[in-house]
Amino acid sequence: MGKPLTGKTAIVTGASSGIGRAVALTLARDGAAVVIQARRRERLDELAAEIAGLGGAALAVAGDAGVPADLDALLEKTLAWSAGGGKLDIAVINAGRGLAGGMLGSDEAQWQELYQTNVLGAAHLMRRAGQLMVQRQRGDIVVVGSVVGRNISPFSGFYGSSKFAVGAMAEALRQEVCAKGVRVSTVMPGIVASEFQQVAGYSAENFGKSIAHFGQLLEPQAIADGVAWLLALPPHVNVSEIMIRPTGQNYP
Ligand SMILES: NC(=O)c1ccc[n+]([C@@H]2O[C@H](COP(=O)([O-])OP(=O)(O)OC[C@H]3O[C@@H](n4cnc5c(N)ncnc54)[C@H](OP(=O)(O)O)[C@@H]3O)[C@@H](O)[C@H]2O)c1
Repeated sequence: MGKPLTGKTAIVTGASSGIGRAVALTLARDGAAVVIQARRRERLDELAAEIAGLGGAALAVAGDAGVPADLDALLEKTLAWSAGGGKLDIAVINAGRGLAGGMLGSDEAQWQELYQTNVLGAAHLMRRAGQLMVQRQRGDIVVVGSVVGRNISPFSGFYGSSKFAVGAMAEALRQEVCAKGVRVSTVMPGIVASEFQQVAGYSAENFGKSIAHFGQLLEPQAIADGVAWLLALPPHVNVSEIMIRPTGQNYP
C-alpha cells in the first residue's frame, strides 16, 4: 500500500521540539516532503538529517514564527523547494509557547511576545497559506490549539486566551475557504510532556503535584498520530476540531 501523503509538501512550524518534531517525523514517515521551521537551527539540521536517514525529504528553514517576514521567507523557500515547484499542500501551525500563572500572577512582560507568536504569527501563516491553497483549490491547514483554548482555566488564563484566539481564527478561516476545497482543523492537546512546561515557567515540583492525578501524560507522538490521521482522510472529510488528552485528565 502507498504512503498516504506521498507527493505532498508540508510545513511544520515549531519543529525543533515536542509536538512539532513528532509531527514532522510522522508526516515524513507518511510520505510528505517536510519543511521544518523553528528558531534553533542546529536542532532543525539534526532533524532534517534524521528524516533523510529514514528515507524522507526535509528542508530546514530557521526563523521566528512571530515575525511575518520570516514566515514569508518560509513560504517562498517551500514553494521553490516543493516537487514540481509552487506547491504547498499542508501547513501545520504549531509553534507556540505557554506562560505560567493566571491573569493576576503571569509575567506581563512576556504577554506581547506570547501573542506575537501564538496569535499574530499564527494568523499571518493561516492567511498566507490559505491564500495559496485557495488558488490551487486544495490543501490542509492544521492549527495546534489547546484544551485551555476551549475550557479556560484560572491557572493559565493569558496563555489560554491566545489559544481561544487561534481556535476562533481557524474556524473562521474554515468557513471562508471550505467551498474552495481547503480543509482547516484545530487540534487541541491536553497535557503533553515536552519542553513546553519549562519554557512556560512552571516549576517542575509544583506542576508535577498539580497534575499527579492525571496519571500518564501524553507523549508528543499522540498528537502527531491525530494529525496524521485527519490528514489521511478522504478530501471531502474535514475533521475540523479534535481534543486529545491523557485519559486521566479531567480538566481543563
Ligand atoms: N505541551 C503541552 O502540554 C501543550 C498542550 C496544549 C497545547 N500545546 C501547544 O502545542 C504547541 C507545541 O508545544 P510543545 O508542547 O511541543 O512545546 P515545546 O516542546 O516547547 O516546543 C515548542 C516549539 O515551538 C517553537 N517555537 C516557540 N516559539 C517560537 C517562535 N517565536 N518562532 C519559531 N518557533 C517557535 C520552539 O522552537 P524554538 O525554540 O527552536 O524556536 C519549539 O520547536 C504549542 O503551540 C503549544 O501551545 C502544548
